[in-house]
Amino acid sequence: MALFIVFEGGEGCGKSTQTRALYRRLSKSGFTAVLTREPGGTSLGERVRRHLKQTDGTAISPMAELFLIAAARAQLVSEVIHPALKAGQTVVCDRFTFSTLAYQGYGRRLPMDTLRVVNDAATGGLSPDLVVLLDVPVGVGLSRKKLRGRDRFESENRAFHSRVRRGYLEMARADPQRWLVVNGRLPRGLIGRKIWERVSSLLRRESNG
Ligand code: TMP
Repeated sequence: MALFIVFEGGEGCGKSTQTRALYRRLSKSGFTAVLTREPGGTSLGERVRRHLKQTDGTAISPMAELFLIAAARAQLVSEVIHPALKAGQTVVCDRFTFSTLAYQGYGRRLPMDTLRVVNDAATGGLSPDLVVLLDVPVGVGLSRKKLRGRDRFESENRAFHSRVRRGYLEMARADPQRWLVVNGRLPRGLIGRKIWERVSSLLRRESNG
């Protein structure tokens, strides 16, 4: 059953916990699933991730940031996501192209049409069956991150993170069929159940059709 499921959200929204929970649930239910993340998921991608997150003062312009992310994404799609979907496996990915629209578009204010072209080039136009947005107010998300040790993105100011959140909510509103918005302040187990409800209905639809 080849579903492609992506998790999105701002800092401290609880994505990593929920991607892992969904992956375990899929595996327990007998589906072969692949869990991966962006930027990362390949040897090249994990190296890019370290560069992007470090706060050692290395200058990275918004456009350079975009191309680093796109390079990692192109590698992940060709090395992991595409082969898994082709083999009929379900892919659960922590962040995808929507992060670029939210962070580099709404956050860094790079032009959206450039981002769409770069995203399409990196993915070959691949788009997920479901995008789960875990939505938390900016203050709540950031307070889950310790002040010391925040990475390059987490250290951005509140206005940046507010633009990112607004971007996600606008994208979700524009495509409610594909997006599931879940309140990230709900108890963990309840969030997991809401996500599983939607995923299992997609799996049923897939197996019937
Ligand atoms: P995270 O996986 O711990 O959330 O860290 C990834 C960071 O990378 C996060 O702060 C958002 C940022 N990012 C972008 O700015 N654009 C992107 O396209 C992706 C995939 C991530």
